[in-house]
Amino acid sequence: GFDIGKLRAQTGLVTLDSGYGNTAAYKSAITYLDGEEGILRYRGYPIEQIAERGSFLETAYLLINGELPTVDELAAFSDEITQHTLLHEDVKRFYDGFPRDAHPMAMVSSVVSALSTFYQDSLSPFDEQQRHISTVRLLAKLPTIAAYAYKKAIGHPFVYPSNDLGYVENFLRMTFSVPAQEYDPDPVVVGALDKLLMLHADHEQNCSTSTVRLVGSSQANLFVSISSGINALWGPLHGGANQAVLEMLEDIQASGGNVATFIRKVKNREDGAKLMGFGHRVYKNFDPRAKIIKAAAHDVLSALGKSDELLDIALALEEQALADDYFVERKLYPNVDFYTGLIYRAMGFPTTMFTVLFALGRLPGWIAHWHEMIKEPGGRIGRPRQVYTGVELRDYVPLEAR
Ligand code: ACO
Repeated sequence: GFDIGKLRAQTGLVTLDSGYGNTAAYKSAITYLDGEEGILRYRGYPIEQIAERGSFLETAYLLINGELPTVDELAAFSDEITQHTLLHEDVKRFYDGFPRDAHPMAMVSSVVSALSTFYQDSLSPFDEQQRHISTVRLLAKLPTIAAYAYKKAIGHPFVYPSNDLGYVENFLRMTFSVPAQEYDPDPVVVGALDKLLMLHADHEQNCSTSTVRLVGSSQANLFVSISSGINALWGPLHGGANQAVLEMLEDIQASGGNVATFIRKVKNREDGAKLMGFGHRVYKNFDPRAKIIKAAAHDVLSALGKSDELLDIALALEEQALADDYFVERKLYPNVDFYTGLIYRAMGFPTTMFTVLFALGRLPGWIAHWHEMIKEPGGRIGRPRQVYTGVELRDYVPLEAR
């Protein structure tokens, strides 16, 4: 048959594809995405049905194992995760070394990377047992790691995980409870956060997932591969957009709330302004997650009895953008991040924690892709080619002669 490797060797032919806009690096059976139609499915199940009826842990199981769990399988999975939520006491000391104003994403990715120093018994990507236990440890410990980053930032004592609570309740308790005070998470908040985590759980070859795969393709262990994904997620063009959206809304509010002026600024590219939370590499129709999240923002704010002027600004921005030729021609629609920040804010999270919440949600997707890649027969190290644009051959000039 046709051998692209041979052709390349003979002709020096490579394709240049900026931002990998048109290059599939992998075959994958995890998530189906049709950007023209606005369709997203995990293992064949529509995202709308999962968000409506599923739970985050069930979704994690589905993504990683390929099938929905039975009642017994879900109970066993959930029990196993619950048993691993505690961090080694020495891990806690990492937080002492971080400055108090450190961004939580930096703390979280560092601590996740450091898990590979604590669990040296489970770093082999090729041992099924080791893959399993590191998967469980990551799912179990990331909420604890994230909550500790928050506690560190506000100067409060860490709250240990509680094994009689569900995944989301436990995370909320570790984040918001204060020692010696009762804490009962609001069921509205628990339900909404569970749904948001499900909606973020996978999105095929996005920047952070591709990063996890690329790092993992060198046969690096799962902990450091995931830590790399967390770092990739931090940028404002990716997961960091949820923080950037809220800051944009606050800026508009602070400068008098004039939405039309801001839209004009974006269109004129003044100071590189973008309408954050709009646009997507793949969705050229609506983002199906954004639809669900917009409805959730209304529900959560009204259930918590909170009105937020920033929500009004966001609604006005969306309305004006969708009626404007600039956005219509470029097929720019709200993405998953446009309304999430408003919900997180209503729940009491500070802006800097928003992208950490995205990481909690995306974790099962990253893990599922790492497993799929490692198990792929004949998988190769990820190694893009380049088109060299530098100087051609020239002779070295000794230092004294320059
Ligand atoms: N505001 C204004 N103009 C935009 C926006 C935006 N949010 N997004 C894209 N455009 C414009 C571009 O300037 C470009 O215009 P041009 O053709 O006149 O030069 C055109 O639309 C195409 O945009 P690209 O940047 O080529 O699209 P790309 O697929 O490379 O980028 C991205 C996608 C990064 C999401 C982009 O739309 C963006 O920066 N959005 C804002 C940040 C954001 O919300 N990111 C979250 C993405 S979802 C996620 O990761 C969870």
